[in-house]
Amino acid sequence: MNKGNIAVLLSGRGSNFDAIVRASRAVGSNFTVRLAISDRSDAAGLKKAARLGIPARHVDPRSFPDKAAYESRLGELLESQRIDLVCLAGYMRLVGPVLLGRFPDRILNIHPALLPCFPGLDAQEQALRAGVKVSGCTVHFVDAGTDSGPIIAQKAVALRPGDDLETLKRRILRQEHRLYPQAISLFFAGRLQIDGRAVIIKP
Ligand code: GAR
Repeated sequence: MNKGNIAVLLSGRGSNFDAIVRASRAVGSNFTVRLAISDRSDAAGLKKAARLGIPARHVDPRSFPDKAAYESRLGELLESQRIDLVCLAGYMRLVGPVLLGRFPDRILNIHPALLPCFPGLDAQEQALRAGVKVSGCTVHFVDAGTDSGPIIAQKAVALRPGDDLETLKRRILRQEHRLYPQAISLFFAGRLQIDGRAVIIKP
């Protein structure tokens, strides 16, 4: 089987990255993780990459004159590795027009809420504050907005009496680790069709 090549962009811990790598190594997987890139030198995800044997790079946005130049460098790195799909996993920056233009409809993100509720930072805290009974996680295509692109897959997580930020984060994260590899797999199976704001999952 010809496997799709993915790169993961991250800024922190990298537990979704880890889950994606593990899924890529399971029997029958249709994708391979070729590269991890972090915008932060202290991201734990970079050390995880070393342990997992995945090539990893720190690209410091501050060493470029502007976002366009930074993203051009990312684009070069990604294209040099023949990356088909870019997966944001705890990458805490907005993707700009340069990277979006180089990977149109080929950038995914995971967000720890049921979008369009609670976009942006601290989604789990927003959910707790709002007093919702159900939150969850969402995998979506990335567009120019904040967590606003077409939704591919969602998993609901019920809030329990006594939940605090840590317990809720943990339960949502467990679902993120399952949902993200499933969405990537659907992408490489050619089953995702963007139809306006929606994504049709073809049989
Ligand atoms: C995850 O919960 C992810 O959904 C969230 O950051 C965490 C990263 O954890 N992303 C966002 O909030 C993006 N808006 P990880 O580094 O362990 O994968």
